[in-house]
Amino acid sequence: MIKGDRIFHLNTKDSSYIFRILENGYLENLHYGNKIRECDDYSLLYKKCSVTEGNSISYSSEFPNINLDNICLEYSGVGKGDLRESPIELILEDGTFTTDFIFLESRSSKGKVKIPGLPSSHSIDDECETLEIDLIDYEANLKLTLYYHVFYDSNVITRYVKLSNLSDKKISINKIMSMQLDIPNYNYSMITFDGTWAREMQMHTKKLESGVYINDSKGGTSSNRHNPFVIFKGEDTGENHGLCYGMNLIYSGNHIEIAEVNYANKLRIQTGINPYCFNFNVDPGEDFYTPEAVLSFSKDGLNGLSKNMHKFIKDNIIPNNFKDKERPILINSWEANYFDFDDKKLISQAKEAASLGIELFVLDDGWFGERNNDTSSLGDWYVNNKKLSKGLAGLSTEINNLGMEFGLWLEPEMISENSNLYKKHPNWAINIPYRKPSVGRNQFVLDLSRSDVKKYLIETINSLLESANISYVKWDMNRNLSDMYSGVLNNQGELYHRYVLGLYEIIEAIQEKFPNILFEGCSAGGNRFDLGILCYMPQIWASDNTDASERVKIQNNLSYGYPQCTFGAHVSDCPNHQTLRNISIETRFNVAAFGLLGYELNLKSLDSLSKKAIKEQIEFYKKYRKTLQFGELYRVENIYNSNVTTWIALEEDKSKAVLMYYQDKQIPHPNDDILKTFKLSEDTYYKVSARKQKINIKSFGNLINHVTPIEIKNDGVIQHFISKVYSHETEDEEFFAYGDLLNEVGFMPKEQFSGCGFNENIRIMGDYSSRIYSISGTFIEK
Ligand code: GLA
Repeated sequence: MIKGDRIFHLNTKDSSYIFRILENGYLENLHYGNKIRECDDYSLLYKKCSVTEGNSISYSSEFPNINLDNICLEYSGVGKGDLRESPIELILEDGTFTTDFIFLESRSSKGKVKIPGLPSSHSIDDECETLEIDLIDYEANLKLTLYYHVFYDSNVITRYVKLSNLSDKKISINKIMSMQLDIPNYNYSMITFDGTWAREMQMHTKKLESGVYINDSKGGTSSNRHNPFVIFKGEDTGENHGLCYGMNLIYSGNHIEIAEVNYANKLRIQTGINPYCFNFNVDPGEDFYTPEAVLSFSKDGLNGLSKNMHKFIKDNIIPNNFKDKERPILINSWEANYFDFDDKKLISQAKEAASLGIELFVLDDGWFGERNNDTSSLGDWYVNNKKLSKGLAGLSTEINNLGMEFGLWLEPEMISENSNLYKKHPNWAINIPYRKPSVGRNQFVLDLSRSDVKKYLIETINSLLESANISYVKWDMNRNLSDMYSGVLNNQGELYHRYVLGLYEIIEAIQEKFPNILFEGCSAGGNRFDLGILCYMPQIWASDNTDASERVKIQNNLSYGYPQCTFGAHVSDCPNHQTLRNISIETRFNVAAFGLLGYELNLKSLDSLSKKAIKEQIEFYKKYRKTLQFGELYRVENIYNSNVTTWIALEEDKSKAVLMYYQDKQIPHPNDDILKTFKLSEDTYYKVSARKQKINIKSFGNLINHVTPIEIKNDGVIQHFISKVYSHETEDEEFFAYGDLLNEVGFMPKEQFSGCGFNENIRIMGDYSSRIYSISGTFIEK
């Protein structure tokens, strides 16, 4: 890892990260990218500095040719000639901003320790190698420790920094980034994942030219506006080829990712806590830790990068006791009932769910205080006995008796103005005393920087979780922060960050008592889909939008940075409650099956054919659950047809896979579909079978009269009656082939319906339609 005195050469399985100590003590990045062996002469990679450049600032008279503005630096600062975005901006006691951190010493070790107060990646059996580098600012008496953690197999390097105030003077931080990476800009583009409520993770690609590009959040959460995961990719990089870098931050508050291309075509990349409204005091003797940044490089395109990120999140982010643990199929009560339910209604829905094979019943919002709509009761975490006459204990016992686990929705970070808690503690809400506060969903946010608030939440939630047999918690957080003020802080610039630290402290205290409860993070859907939350909660509700044609995009784009075992995905009612769109129950399932499957609709209102379809879906999901939840997930590129999305989930040993093919709009007289697989074993002979699906005969309208002996009026009583007892089954499709054919050429499924006749060889698709194919390795000889 350390080569000679002045070179650091870090290797993962397929990448190298190299930097050196410059003559003036700064650190110069020499390479991050494709793996290279250790060199005899690293000076080939050095920036050549034999003259003083133009109107540049010389670092010092001792080093007149060191122009920090034109060198790839591991971490820099303010006031010494680097005029790019600085990773650190401090205010020293004398009011000056200049810092000058130079190399002091380095240490390397195996394994890693937790970052105090923050979630961080974990290393199993010392698999990770750690390099610590101390930089010192002698004049200010400040130390900056740069941490590098190398996760060999997943091709991930994580970084963060610690600032130690060794002086006897107060300082404060305006900006401190978790990492800085300077590399030559080979025509890179930056991919960001942006959106809003119910439209999370929309992918945007910006070509990087001279200038500064920012991806950030300012609402106190990692946000649905701009997810902290970003990608930098080369010009020709596609799903399966070309180089790309991925970057994420293990943090759930305001974040920033900065990309700057300077005059010398050098690309500077940073990530960390957003300096927006941020100022943090570090008193003499104190340390400040940044969140951990995650970096990965792949030369095998975006799928290669996703593979790295997925492996790292599965192995080193989500809690160890949930690694590879198959997640239950759940029914969530929200969209079936909203606030209108009692225990009788819930139990009858639960019975229906149990009879279909569902394993977990989740009671969503509305069970506590006087919560009959969203204007009241957040903070009053006691059961509403008018709705639940036997309390949570009684309800959970009845659910358990049906053979299902019981789960509960909570929104601990919030307080309704109309609540007993607010009457008692109005100053617990984050509001400015002399201003009229803004609200979000009629509610305020609790001040989690206060120790009395933290204590109240830990005690209240712990006793709630003790009061019944609860195996799952949906931890919601439905609004962004505004009107930032805390009655207990001297420096209001600390509130955003202290809120997040308070949140982590609360979750840690609760999970210490209940390590086996499965937590699902949620923030109005995907407003806090980040690695900080995933360190505690192995899954997150991806979006309140369950319209399959929208979900397919959201889940597809999430998959660039996160594995499918982290995203909650439900089959909901139609017309869909967010878009009023109708999509078949089979496509709704096929999309949700490539996440953590749940149902969120009133099962009691379904006809018997839909229930039969659900029962079969659940049987299929259970059979392939391990592959669907934990298999390697790839996006199968279809450059000829942007109307389709294809995913494959593949067992690591390639013995089994499931392929999902989704078509957005029906194209008249469609071209032949060619379905390719990805990464199957070339030499294995596979059996491929299409999952049988049900098609409501109403979708054929009057066309059905061409095959029926009597006339069935479209939308008439007879059609309605038949549709309740009979549905059309999709085509039979089953065949055997070697992996190389399936990967390289693909297979042509039965031809799509094109308005020119129908027989058993026709594949009925239509708008928003899909198929799932199971693929199993077999020993049957050709
Ligand atoms: C948020 C969540 C939903 C649901 C509601 C309940 O919007 O994202 O899934 O739990 O809150 O109020």
